[in-house]
Amino acid sequence: MDDLGAVSWPPAPIRTERLVLRAPEARDRAAFVALLTSPEVNAYLGGPRARDEVERGLPAAPEQWPGSFAVESDGAMIGQVLLRRATGHRRPAAAGKLDLGYLFLPQAWGFGYAAEACAAALDWLAGVLPGEPVVLTTQSANAASMRLAAKLGFTEVERFEAWDAEQWLGMRSPGR
Ligand SMILES: CC(C)(COP(=O)(O)OP(=O)(O)OC[C@H]1O[C@@H](n2cnc3c(N)ncnc32)[C@H](O)[C@@H]1OP(=O)(O)O)[C@@H](O)C(=O)NCCC(=O)NCCS
Repeated sequence: MDDLGAVSWPPAPIRTERLVLRAPEARDRAAFVALLTSPEVNAYLGGPRARDEVERGLPAAPEQWPGSFAVESDGAMIGQVLLRRATGHRRPAAAGKLDLGYLFLPQAWGFGYAAEACAAALDWLAGVLPGEPVVLTTQSANAASMRLAAKLGFTEVERFEAWDAEQWLGMRSPGR
């Protein structure tokens, strides 16, 4: 995966009805540690990382790169939306395409925040890199992620085996 490359970054914060999407900041560090170490968040992502290792390895200010959005609710980070270029994706249908990923803290699940944030990020993406499809890969057993993908307008391209599980590759056409 590569970042989005030559887009203007960071953009002005993106405000939705309930959320703000913005570049990550030093004050988000605890939320990043929680995302990386949560067993629930990482249940379909290869498992959580060890807290002491993450605490040691994570820089004081989170890495900033074009396409990495912190999602904020009531002044605190609740999740991350990742827009990248799927360079080297193992499936030819996805290789080189724009790619969406999302991670939210368990206490923020079930309120429609992920859907609201991802829709806003996809709108932003369509503005800065218009006319391109977006792909998304998730384990097909990840029911919440599968529901979110469908809600956002992704449709199935194929399923494939990788990382010891069935993966679902979805695509969202431009101009939706
Ligand atoms: C995948 C993930 C982001 C989904 O989060 P989520 O909170 O379930 O997703 P949504 O934002 O779509 O919200 C879902 C529920 O909120 C409920 N909800 C409550 N209030 C709502 C509102 N105001 N608007 C919309 N939905 C609302 C809905 O009932 C919805 O349930 P449904 O999907 O059954 O209809 C979350 O499970 C996660 O972070 N998982 C770990 C990371 C991961 O696996 N990522 C995938 C790898 S790409």
